[in-house]
Amino acid sequence: MSEQEKKIIFSGIQPTGTFTLGNYIGAVSRWGELQDQFNCIYSIVDMHAITVRQDPVQLRQKSLEAYALLFACGIDPKKSITFIQSHAGTHAELSWILSCSTQFGELSRMTQFKDKSAKHADDINAGLFTYPVLMAADILAYNADLVPIGEDQRQHLELARNIAQRFNGKYGEFFTVPEAYIPKVGARIKSLQDPEKKMSKSDENPNACVFILDEPDVIIRKFKRAVTDSDSEIRYAEEKPGVSNLMSIYSAVTGKEIPEIEREFEGKGYGDFKLAVGEAVSDRLKPVREEFARLMADKAYLKECYMEGAKSALSISRRTLTKVYRKVGFVDAR
Ligand code: TYM
Repeated sequence: MSEQEKKIIFSGIQPTGTFTLGNYIGAVSRWGELQDQFNCIYSIVDMHAITVRQDPVQLRQKSLEAYALLFACGIDPKKSITFIQSHAGTHAELSWILSCSTQFGELSRMTQFKDKSAKHADDINAGLFTYPVLMAADILAYNADLVPIGEDQRQHLELARNIAQRFNGKYGEFFTVPEAYIPKVGARIKSLQDPEKKMSKSDENPNACVFILDEPDVIIRKFKRAVTDSDSEIRYAEEKPGVSNLMSIYSAVTGKEIPEIEREFEGKGYGDFKLAVGEAVSDRLKPVREEFARLMADKAYLKECYMEGAKSALSISRRTLTKVYRKVGFVDAR
């Protein structure tokens, strides 16, 4: 398939700390696998990150680490455009235009906005409110066909589709209406301590969330402490959210199907199962940890990559923006 015929993929991740196992299974681990089949564009979305208060020194460090982690998780900068969002000012410019095709009411309905405003009640800033418009700009700037994300981003993607359609309705067909690309298994990895909640880096209980750079003994300890259910059967079922979550994780990191896992652990107890999941996760993440350490020791290489990534991202998104400016009726400055 020629480069032109390949579909376009866009996705992003916030640099607000080491990626969680949820980020990894639901999104990032799959991004590398898509590189040959699609034209992929991936971004560290630092502009989204400042919708909640960040320490500037830490944000800079975390952004660089997150960028290196993408490569450690399998993204190849020669195959995918990999850049830091704030290096492409076009996203913010497009976001403004798109905000004029977004309704106050639809932004008010976003569950992430409601959750985050409850959590940061002293700082419900306008950026937090318009966050999904910037996300739509990220995607639409590249006319992405598919957006690989976890289940929690589905509502934002729906909004991006609505914004694209509304813009096309007003100004004539222009934006590709993107589709969510959500995995069948692992799209919503749950907290290890409360399987009703998603695994999240902001969880107060340190045992609830596994980070992909956790040391093997820490990973295994967190899995040993994971909450299961009252019976002792290793079976995937709605009424067994704890065990089902662990099975999804095991399936995602080993590639084994759920029925195969049920057979593997037939007659065995939760202790054996939890240890096996912890070991499988730790083994899977070993090369990620090693590659991350190697990359962080080579800042010059990382810089070369993100400068190159920014150039490519800007060249595509600038072209889109120029056309958008013309469509909405701005006077041509070129
Ligand atoms: P973020 O940084 O919160 O998460 C990055 C990706 O990880 C997925 N994810 C999960 N998947 C499964 N189980 C979990 N527990 C879990 N937690 C997180 C998320 O669904 C996401 O795919 N708004 C986005 C970033 C963004 C973006 C974009 C994504 C900005 N612009 C454009 C796609 C396209 C976010 O905050 O993701």
